[in-house]
Order: sequence, then C-alpha cells, then structure tokens
Amino acid sequence: MKSSFRLPRAALASACAAFLLAACGGQPADVAGSDAAPAQAAGADAAADAPQAGGEVNLYTTREPGLIQPLLDAFTASSGIKVNTVLLKDGLLERLGAEGERSVADVLMVVDTGNMLDLVEAGHTQPLQSEVLEAAIPAHLRGADDQWFAMSLRDRVLYAHNDLDLESFHYEDLADPQWKGKVCIRSGQHPYNTSLFAAMIAHHGAEATETWLRGVKANLARKAAGGDRDVARDILAGICDIGIANAYYVGRMKNAEPGSEQHQWGEAIKVIRPTFNVDNGGTHVNISGAALAAHSPNRDNAVKLMEYLVSDEAQSLYARANYEYPVKAGVELDPVVASFGTLTVDPLPLTEVVANRREASALVDKVGFDN
Ligand SMILES: [Fe+2]
Repeated sequence: MKSSFRLPRAALASACAAFLLAACGGQPADVAGSDAAPAQAAGADAAADAPQAGGEVNLYTTREPGLIQPLLDAFTASSGIKVNTVLLKDGLLERLGAEGERSVADVLMVVDTGNMLDLVEAGHTQPLQSEVLEAAIPAHLRGADDQWFAMSLRDRVLYAHNDLDLESFHYEDLADPQWKGKVCIRSGQHPYNTSLFAAMIAHHGAEATETWLRGVKANLARKAAGGDRDVARDILAGICDIGIANAYYVGRMKNAEPGSEQHQWGEAIKVIRPTFNVDNGGTHVNISGAALAAHSPNRDNAVKLMEYLVSDEAQSLYARANYEYPVKAGVELDPVVASFGTLTVDPLPLTEVVANRREASALVDKVGFDN
C-alpha cells in the first residue's frame, strides 16, 4: 500500500509528528514507507505520545486483508481500539530488522509455524503470559516461552476421488505401492509439505522418512508441482486418485460459484483427515499465528487484540473467513469444514516439528522429490 506521491522525509516528519499514526493515513506503512527507517523512529515516539481516545494498536501481518479485516473491525467495534494495519506480503523479517528497536509493531500475524519461528529466532517477539490465551490454545500449539500463539489451524489432508472406497488414511500409506501412479502433490519444497515431512521425521526419524519419501515419489502420477487446488483439478481429470493438500482450499472450492471450474474441482473430491500411524497420532496442522512484537509501543492494546482473537466471536469469524479450523475448541465451524468431521490435531509440539524443517527440505532434494 503506497501513496501516489512522496513528501521528503523531513516534511513528513514535521507535518505528522504530533498525531503520526492517526493523522497521516492511519497506517505506519503509509507514513514511513518501507525504506524509511528514520521516519519509523518518529512513528515510534508519536505512537507512544499521541493522545488516543480508545487507543491504537499496530498490526504487522502477511495475511490477506479480506481475511482479517472483518475481524479487526469487530475488535475495534467492541474495544474502541483502532487497528493500524501494515500488510507485508513479503519481507516482514527484513522490515522488522531494519526498524529495530524503533519499530512501532505491536502484534505480528503470519501463517506457517516456520515463519513464526523465524520471527522468534530473530528476536522480533517477546513472551506474553496470558491466562486467556493459555486457556484457549492447547500447549502444543503455542511457542515455547509463550513467544507465539496459534490463532487458527490449517490441516493437511487427503483429497480422494469421491468414488474411492476409502474411509481413513495414514500419511505413511502415501508410500504404499497400491497407490503407484495415483498420487498428486505440490512441490516437496513448499512449506506446507516440508512442514508435513518435518513432522514425519519427528515421528519416525530421518532414515525412515527418507525411505517413505522415496516411496511417495515412486507413487506420483505427475511431477510434484502446482498448487493444492490442482490436486482436486487433477483428480477430476482422472490424472490421480488421491493427493495431499490443505483442507481450507476445499472450503473455498466447494463454496465457489456453482458451475465454475473451482466448484467442479471441489465437488469431485472428498476430504479424509489422515493421521500419523503411531500411538495417539493425529492430523498434521500448520497454523496462522500471532505474537507480541519485541518493542511493542502499545503493549496493553496488543494484548487486548491477541486475547480478542481467541474469543468465540473472533475464532468463528476468522475460521469461517478462510475455512481454517479454530484453535479454540467448541467454536462454530463453516458447514463445509464441519462436514469433514472433527479434527484431531497431532499432539507433537509444533516447535518440535519445525526444528526438523531444514532436514526435511534437504531430504526432498536428496530423493529428487521434485525432479
Ligand atoms: Fe494456502
């Protein structure tokens, strides 16, 4: 989001000093520009000093505006706290690194546990002890030392042709020769897959995972490429019978306009939530998550926003906007998502899973999964 014109930094700073965030477009991104660290310094001071009616909170996020705006509007309506959103499709780490201690970021919201951990490891988060968050979010879906919190779940599931006589599935079965030439999946290097493979390493070790990956590769109906929705497309086209992809895309496809391509893809498949074939094994999930920024100038409001995000109202809104699964139990589901049945999340702590992501990525190369 960029202005169509640019003032010199000095002019911006003097024009906006007193009410920087509120008066100058409302968003730190508009004021400072992505390349303007000195202006960010002014932002930090102004954010702390500016008179605020209900107060403000600055959210840095990689999430699509359409997904989170209804949620943020509802938060503002109930709290009186204005949310200034900085949308950063790419480069959040770099942005925070450049801003350093002067960053006005209060809350960070991203998808993928790996991205969350990158923020933690770079020192861009701080611990937050909150009884509200602890009560709503199971321990294995929170960061160690309370550095981050899952806000919604993105389960990685099996898409299967509607006519297949298949009721349950283990991820391990993907390597079973009975599926030779019948499996579709996107690149093994995509974070959705490296996360799944990292979980496989956590359960079975690297050696067994390598063997498994070779087996999956041998079963592929086509090159590991494209997107998750292409698995449904290719099942409809008869290229494959099963595939691995995220569940929320099925919500999008089945809710697409009847007659549209996407709707047809969605209607061609059923969703089975695989589990790991171990004691108490569950379904692999990735997350969208939130963290308190390391130098949050509006800490109290940041905590209020994060706690609001796990309220029943927010969880339902958030989950239904993108067909993701609520992290909090007992929240109303989108009907399509509800039709997949209850999600039993694999109990391995996500931090343990993510610790294996580099090894998983190396294995993908080693077995030539994408070749
Ligand atoms: Fe996605």
